Amino acid sequence: MTQVAITDTTLRDAHQSLVATRMRTRDMLPIAEKLDSVGFFSLEVWGGATFDVCIRFLNEDPWDRLRSLAAEIRDTPLQMLLRGQNLVGYRHYPDDLVVKFVEKSAENGIEIFRVFDALNDIRNMEVSIRTAKKTGAHVQGAISYTISPVHTIETFVKFATELASLDCDSICIKDMAGLISPHAAYDLIKTLKDEVGLPVDLHSHSTSGMAPMSYMAACKAGVDILDTAFSPFAGGTSQPPTETVVAGLDGTPYNTGLDLALLTEIKEYFDGVKEKYMGILDPVSEKIDTSVLIHQIPGGMLSNLVSQLKEQNAMDRYGDVLREMPKVREDLGYPPLVTPTSQIVGTQAVMNVLMGERYKVIPKEVRDYVRGIYGRPPAPINKQLLAKVLGDDVAVTCRPADLLPPELEMRTREAEKLGIVRKEEDILTYALYPQIAPKFLMGEAEEEKLQPAVATGGSGVHAPAGIFNKFKVVVDGETFVVEVEPTGTGEMAVAADDANPAPTSVEGGITSNMQGMVLGLKVTKGDAVEEGDVVAVIEAMKMETNIHSPHSGIVREIFVSEGATVGAGANLMSVY
Ligand code: CO
Repeated sequence: MTQVAITDTTLRDAHQSLVATRMRTRDMLPIAEKLDSVGFFSLEVWGGATFDVCIRFLNEDPWDRLRSLAAEIRDTPLQMLLRGQNLVGYRHYPDDLVVKFVEKSAENGIEIFRVFDALNDIRNMEVSIRTAKKTGAHVQGAISYTISPVHTIETFVKFATELASLDCDSICIKDMAGLISPHAAYDLIKTLKDEVGLPVDLHSHSTSGMAPMSYMAACKAGVDILDTAFSPFAGGTSQPPTETVVAGLDGTPYNTGLDLALLTEIKEYFDGVKEKYMGILDPVSEKIDTSVLIHQIPGGMLSNLVSQLKEQNAMDRYGDVLREMPKVREDLGYPPLVTPTSQIVGTQAVMNVLMGERYKVIPKEVRDYVRGIYGRPPAPINKQLLAKVLGDDVAVTCRPADLLPPELEMRTREAEKLGIVRKEEDILTYALYPQIAPKFLMGEAEEEKLQPAVATGGSGVHAPAGIFNKFKVVVDGETFVVEVEPTGTGEMAVAADDANPAPTSVEGGITSNMQGMVLGLKVTKGDAVEEGDVVAVIEAMKMETNIHSPHSGIVREIFVSEGATVGAGANLMSVY
């Protein structure tokens, strides 16, 4: 009898962590049958960022991917990562969409749903958990693991008890930043096993280098399932290697019983797949980064920060931002740093540093978080920040999705009108991603070309200066046009492709405080504005920021149009 089961994540988390989720279905299918024959507890193949990336960059239908994998993999349960009420997107969806999405996922082949919420707020998980249970699937309730003064074994166990009361079949400790130490893993798993009694899965990342030790400690505490990925896509910000964990546990009471020779055949296949993706493999994500033990920021979030700072031309403030992050996290009540709270904390920290003043600018997403739209933070929010955001309003205390009206009917009508519905699932694709789905569903999207390994890479790649002077760099899934300065210092200047030159000195000028896109203009020429009025909305660092008029007057001239890209300090309009 085998003692520890293995969930392999190569087809989801591993390539999401190392190659920006870009693995194609055509690279998965040839090995599917063999993967199925290994005897894994499950194969994590869907959810997380895969859905978004499929339609945005790969011109692939995520539903087709799931169906074709399910056709090949008949013995091993297929597993997905579901962000609770956020499904596979970045905002809360209304209940009717959640129910439909979970039902369709099960119908197309998902047998294990791993459900999590960034704030460990059970109210954001209950509809998806209940629906998944109704389909007959195995539901794994996940704890977003983090370290903070308010996250203790007691609080995690209390949360796991709530998950158990919703009839979850197992509990996953989701350690997205690779922070769990061997003794913390031991204590938490032992207590969960004793007090909750459900099977426990430890999901960690190799970021800090501790994961393999923590896996061993987990075995001693009675863990049931460990998450690993085949070695070509393991290590760094991905999972520990499947082959290593299997070999390491061989001959112990925690033996997995898996065949190392068969695993090695599969590994050789993935060696070949990795070659194809070398151009987008970020060397930073493959490294062990022990600084994560101090700042506790997950790898994906760090590369996001680097790209945000480059966008704002402020890479020199990187250290300041890292120091600001813990303060913002504390003010926001110590959220675990995972999608979407990692972006919320990270972007606010960047803004605090760039503005030279805390909370001078607060993006819409941070305001929503403070108002309770994302759910209940682990600890109370800083009182001054709360007062500043709420003003005379009151915070949301109900289940956030209770505020959302049903959408399915409206989205169905819209999608039908657009003529993009060939199957019921297309309505869901559209409802989740109304901006990008129509192009994809109309067959007008194109598959992103794989970047050759030579001239591209993630942050930290040195350009062969003097040979090329302009090429594309992919950082955390986003493409930037990079110009290499002829001095050959290796310095890169990253600029938006279509930066719009706006006048720099005008009477009564109202400026954008950061590089971004004009999302909306709230005034037109001739309008009277009061000091403090919102005159424009800028999208910077993927978040919305209001631009307030610093003085009263009449709008004399507007220099930009909606959709334009503006630099930091650029004049948007003149008011006097
Ligand atoms: Co993960």
